[in-house]
This record gives sequence, C-alpha cells and structure tokens, in this order.
Amino acid sequence: MSLLQVLDDYQNEALQVISQCGELSEIEEARIRFLGKKKGRLKEIQTQLSTAKPEERPLLGKRFNEAKNAVEASLNARKDELAKPAKQIAGLDVTLPGTAFPLGKRHPISKTISEFKEIAGRLGFDVADGPEVEDDYHNFVALNIPDDHPARDPLDNFYLSVAQEGAGGPWLLRSQTSTVQIRVMEQVPPPVRIVSTGRVYRPDTIDATHSCMFHQMEGLYIDKHVTMSNLKTTLKMIATQYLGDDIAIRFRPSFFPFTEPSVEVDIQWGENWMEVGGAGMVDPNVLKAVGYDPEEVSGFAFGLGIERLCMKRYGVKDIRLLYENDLRFLSQF
Ligand code: FA5
Repeated sequence: MSLLQVLDDYQNEALQVISQCGELSEIEEARIRFLGKKKGRLKEIQTQLSTAKPEERPLLGKRFNEAKNAVEASLNARKDELAKPAKQIAGLDVTLPGTAFPLGKRHPISKTISEFKEIAGRLGFDVADGPEVEDDYHNFVALNIPDDHPARDPLDNFYLSVAQEGAGGPWLLRSQTSTVQIRVMEQVPPPVRIVSTGRVYRPDTIDATHSCMFHQMEGLYIDKHVTMSNLKTTLKMIATQYLGDDIAIRFRPSFFPFTEPSVEVDIQWGENWMEVGGAGMVDPNVLKAVGYDPEEVSGFAFGLGIERLCMKRYGVKDIRLLYENDLRFLSQF
C-alpha cells in the first residue's frame, strides 16, 4: 500500500473514531491513539515516511500535515461539542430550570386527628373505626336514647330515605362517634381502651362554631374500678399535650342518656370558656345492651369536638374557614 493510501486510511479511521466519542475521556484516548508523541499512529507513519524516495517526500510531507491538522481539528471540535450544554431539541431546552409544582400541605383537621391519635396511643388507647352511615340501633337505642328523646327528632338528623330498613332500624348519617363505643363493645370483651375519630353530621345552623358536618374523637375505657377522676386526668392530659401545659379544663354537670353522671368539658378561651366535648361514666344500661356486667366493670367515655380544639390550637376564629378550601388560609399551616 502506498504511503498516500496509508495517510488517507489513517485520517478516515481517526475522524470516524472521534465522531463517535461520547465523553471527554474518550477524546483523550483518541488523541493518544492517533496523535500520541510516543506511540501514536501518526508517529508510526512519520517513521515510514523517512523511507520514502526523496522526490516523493514533498507531496507526502504536505499530505502528512493535512492529515495531522484534520485529526487535530476534529478532536478540538468534538471536545467543544461535548463541553457544551445539551442543545435545544425540537422545542425542548433541557438546560432551562424545571417547572416547580407547589407542594400541598396537610389540612389542619387531618393534622389534629393524627396528633390526637398519637397522644391517645401514648396513653394506652387503641384506635377503632366505625361507619358514617349508621342504623338507629347503634346511633340511639343501644346508647340508651329513648324513642321520645329530642335527639331522635327527624328534623335534628340526616335520615336516609332508603327503600329497605336494616335490622337495626332506619339508617342515618351518624350524629355522634358514640356509635363506635357500641360497635367495639359488641365485638370484644372488657377491658376496652379505644379512641375513634371521624365525621359526624347534624343539621345545625351554621355559625362561627357550628357546622353541619364536623369531626369528633370518641374515647372509651372499660375495666374494673374505673373512676371519674381517671376521666378528668385523661382529658386534662390530652388537652395539655395538644394545647400546652397552661391550658385549663373544667367539668360542668350535664346530661347524656348513655353516661351517668355526665359532664360538659370546657377549655379556657381567653376570658371565657369554650365547650369542647361531652363525657361521663358509661351508663349501666349501655353496658347491659352490649352484654357486659355492670356489677363487674365500669368505665368512662368522652366525645371531643375536633374542630373546636383545632381552632383553639391555631387561633382560628371561624369554623367555616376550615371547610372553604381557600389556599391562602390553608397554606398557613
Ligand atoms: C356528643 O356528641 C356526645 N356523643 C359526647 C359524649 C361522648 C358524651 C361520650 C358522653 C360520653 P355533644 O352533642 O355535646 O355530645 O357534642 C360533643 C362536641 O362536639 C361538642 O362539645 C362540640 O365540641 C362538638 N360539636 C357539637 N356540635 C357541633 C357542631 N355543629 N359543629 C362543630 N362542633 C360541634
């Protein structure tokens, strides 16, 4: 093969290899392979040139320099290309910063529910769940709420107009989480220590502290020798752990058909007190309805309004703000 042919082959091969280099380190390897001063291919060819006839040397020398320059230029061009940021492809410029998606936050009510479950868990309460669509039996009858009690008035409840009634009487959206007390005690023998959180529904007139859908946390503790002072200590601990050590709670005598004695639970709200829940010692009639022996076991129950406590914690003055889904409000939490 003539030396001119050797130089052509050298250049073609070098340009082909360089065009396929994908990284700067590969460019450097190609430089050493084709232009390396000690063992490069060009060095080899240069040695062969010294054997050429004197009249061929000017042409070969010229071609030698052309090939060397072409390889050098190709190396430099490929190096520049690789060092440059990726090019815009079909309208996409991958070097531009990405689109930032605004991150959502947990709703203050969800945060409050999680915290309550955690606090109750630390006090030894398990978490139970119950249905939002309930029957008359679990919402009223088993809770010792007689037929003529005003709480059963159809105008004070969301009864469902379904064709068939279940075995437990007409269905309604539960008006309180106390239904879960019954559902749990029907399933397990004493001792019982549970909390249950969830939505409840009442056709109340909506104002700053009332909504027609809100959340409650029910608590139930049944065992031997459970007392009213256990109830007050538990509620005080839940209130201070959620709202801080300086929070004051008080009990006001009240009436619930399913507890005896019964109390309203208030927390201090500035100069005033705000009602946050109802509580009491579980009525013996309720224990009997689920097959427990009131001579053997006793217990306490409480039902706290989650919105009211959440409002106290975050300084929210109007319950409606919690349901309006206004991001300017929600993004503050
Ligand atoms: C009850 O619902 C009883 N089941 C509580 C109970 C449980 C008593 C266990 C004894 C033993 P009451 O109707 O008072 O009680 O409601 C409890 C709490 O729910 C209230 O103190 C209040 O914080 C909250 N609440 C009641 N109605 C509304 C409403 N319309 N909007 C927002 N929160 C409300």
